[in-house]
Amino acid sequence: MDQSPAIDYRLLVDNLTTAILLVDSNLNIFYLNSSCEALFDISLLRAAGQPVMNLLHLPTDEFNTYEALQNTLSTGQPYTRREATINVNFKDIHVDYTASQLNAGKSYHPLLLIELNPIDRMLKISKEENLIQQHQVARQLVRGVAHEIKNPLAGIRGATQLLARSLNDSQYAEFTDIIINEVDRLRNLADTMLGSRQLPSYELVNIHEPLERVRSLIANQTKKKVKIIRDYDLSLPEVMADRDQLIQVMLNISVNAVQAMMENKEFFAEHQPELILRTRIQRLVTINGVIHRSVVRIDIEDNGPGVPEEIIESVFYPLVTARAKGTGLGLSIAQNIMHQHNGMIECQSVPGKTIFSLYIPWESNHVAK
Ligand SMILES: Nc1ncnc2c1ncn2[C@@H]1O[C@H](COP(=O)(O)OP(=O)(O)O)[C@@H](O)[C@H]1O
Ligand SMILES: [Mg+2]
Repeated sequence: MDQSPAIDYRLLVDNLTTAILLVDSNLNIFYLNSSCEALFDISLLRAAGQPVMNLLHLPTDEFNTYEALQNTLSTGQPYTRREATINVNFKDIHVDYTASQLNAGKSYHPLLLIELNPIDRMLKISKEENLIQQHQVARQLVRGVAHEIKNPLAGIRGATQLLARSLNDSQYAEFTDIIINEVDRLRNLADTMLGSRQLPSYELVNIHEPLERVRSLIANQTKKKVKIIRDYDLSLPEVMADRDQLIQVMLNISVNAVQAMMENKEFFAEHQPELILRTRIQRLVTINGVIHRSVVRIDIEDNGPGVPEEIIESVFYPLVTARAKGTGLGLSIAQNIMHQHNGMIECQSVPGKTIFSLYIPWESNHVAK
């Protein structure tokens, strides 16, 4: 028999890519779908009951949103607003939205249905693809240079050892030792520039486990001067990942955060350094052109002075650093590892709040090796 399946409308609404908000007659939020949760980075649980104006209206906006919504609610006349600005986590986002009246039945007050379409999304996707490509070219360049540096080093080291032996004079040993030590230092640097040579070995990982490893490493290293706050969603699914490489990614980012907070003396004197480790499920994330329904998100947040403005756009590029002793390799290596996991790292930063977010798809694709 040919029966179509019964449709679960809630499921349908939650799978729409359009963000949907339902607002009651007091202009308080009644419901939002998954896309809307993702757009405003807020959960239904937290949003329900809040005035919709908190999400939809900026104090600097001259348009009278309140009046327009009220008008639609009472007259039933829909209205559309183009290129409205909303603010999510300190970032301005532009949306087109339409508000219309929704009558749920005679005995109910009418509701407002608001459909939102972010318009920067297309822009952002192409920008991301560009960034990823440029990043890969830069990585290859760095690896090429590292190879060229590394090749002659073994020869120099061997020849110096021979020289030391044939001179057999402690007067010169000091100089040959300097050569050997400096050669070793260069080789280590070149190895870091090359990154891991091993292919990732994937297994199912509960990301809280590597995260906890990193937490205890950082806690030991900073001798409790940094307050570490855990905000974990323990119901997260496991991901296919290389555990050791995940630790390296989380460590590179956390060490940067700690350095930013502790090395800035003025900042350190006035603030209690805080590192927040947060885990969440995030819906509808585009990574390298692929839309994922649901991914695991790990935020590593600090309250330090923020990424210097002049490098924020290029912070993931190799050799970009704002620290005197930095190599500028930590974030580039971390981003590279995440790409191998079909994931990515994003950064948002203002003074007092810097968040590096790791996104790892969990639903599909890696075949365990
Ligand atoms: N949490 C952070 N707060 C402020 N600045 C940061 C943070 N994370 C990274 N940065 C900046 O990004 C730069 C690049 O980081 P990275 O690639 O790890 O190289 P390195 O640590 O060797 O400088 C750092 O020099 C620093 O200026
Ligand atoms: Mg670093």
